[in-house]
Amino acid sequence: MTPPPTLLVTHATELCTVAGSSRTPRTGSALADPGRIRDGAVAVAGDTILAVGPTDRVLADFPPGPDTRVLDASGRVVLPGLVDPHTHLVHAGSREGEFVQRLQGRSYLEILAAGGGILATVAATRAASAASLEVAARAALDRMLVHGATTVEAKSGYGLTLADEVKQLRVVANLDRSHPVDLVPTFLAAHAVPPEFRGRRSDYVRHVVEAMLPAVAGLAEFCDVFCETEVFPVSDAREILAAGRRLGLRPKLHADELGPSGGSALAAELGATSADHCIHTPAEVMPRLAAAGVVVVLLPGTSFTLGARRWAPARAFVAAGVPVALATDYNPGTSPVDSMVHVMGIACRGLGLTPAEAISAATINAAHAVGRAGKVGSLEPGKQADLVAFDAPSADAIPYYFGSNRVDWVIKAGRVVVSGGRLVQAAGREGGSNGGG
Ligand code: NIG
Ligand code: FE
Repeated sequence: MTPPPTLLVTHATELCTVAGSSRTPRTGSALADPGRIRDGAVAVAGDTILAVGPTDRVLADFPPGPDTRVLDASGRVVLPGLVDPHTHLVHAGSREGEFVQRLQGRSYLEILAAGGGILATVAATRAASAASLEVAARAALDRMLVHGATTVEAKSGYGLTLADEVKQLRVVANLDRSHPVDLVPTFLAAHAVPPEFRGRRSDYVRHVVEAMLPAVAGLAEFCDVFCETEVFPVSDAREILAAGRRLGLRPKLHADELGPSGGSALAAELGATSADHCIHTPAEVMPRLAAAGVVVVLLPGTSFTLGARRWAPARAFVAAGVPVALATDYNPGTSPVDSMVHVMGIACRGLGLTPAEAISAATINAAHAVGRAGKVGSLEPGKQADLVAFDAPSADAIPYYFGSNRVDWVIKAGRVVVSGGRLVQAAGREGGSNGGG
């Protein structure tokens, strides 16, 4: 006989499983089906989901034992733990001064060309100790978790020397070990040309390929490039991503964010795991992205912050059968938002996604965008027990509510890590910090 579950979540007013898409992401009309169950329940054993379904059926199959923790989720909506597949988590400093400048008419690229923007954060991040970077990133991760994110991608890209990129990636590794949120590390040295290579972009690209990539191969899972005509053009991105792939790093791209640079077409050509931003992706590239199975990660917090002169063509991507995901792009320059729920809210208002589509995009499709769909992103037997409960009358209300946090509790790998909207302080802190290393 199977032992009783360690945890039972029962009587969720609405429970969205987002099940059935662990092999291929949700596209087209399937994006709008988050797998709603009324009066839903989840049975958990240890860190793994045993069963999901209507409460009466789950309780009949998996009755509680004397040691089972039972969480009554009535009046709550339960979703899979949210996945944030694009963040610049580890950085120092803040750039609200540029926000003021942009409001007065200066452009993002003008500020970067004058040594501000990404380069301002590079200077601050180089000057910061690993320990102080870890303190700031841990605080951000706490906020993300309290807003329902249980898996978060984190890029380097504010070091731009081997030692400083490694410093960022080690912080990611430390946090992955010591914080309840699971982290996915991405190498992004091709984020800007650093000051010591000013005017020598191709020398820097060679340095990234020959000196940096071999040294970070064990520390990162993905390789990303800020592909933009005025930053790293397609030819550079192709070279860096091909070199990364030879070392086992899967390609991702910041593509067509500021203009039609050709980044999305390159993502399709390479069969990249994801193409991110895609604000200026031409319509003719969309079928190629769909055929190549590239997940387009939409980052509407960036459009919102930069003034929303243009939003990514999300409806056209969905119509073309391209899998879309959502992410915060959490960074100090273009997207200071750390809440996936707020991003879902912006996505509905700015990109025209429905709440149901936003839920699929922030869970299973986001898991595909970081190669984790076999483990997280949906509520199905055998998957990791990552769940979030919202104080909301229906799933549609989650992105509808705006400007307040309605997360009640979060379960990560079978453990309650947020309760009553607050971090459970013991959660995942056993590892402590060894960020000086
Ligand atoms: O995704 N576009 C490049 N990278 C970030 C911005 C980084 C920054 O401005 O510091 C982005 O928008
Ligand atoms: Fe980004």
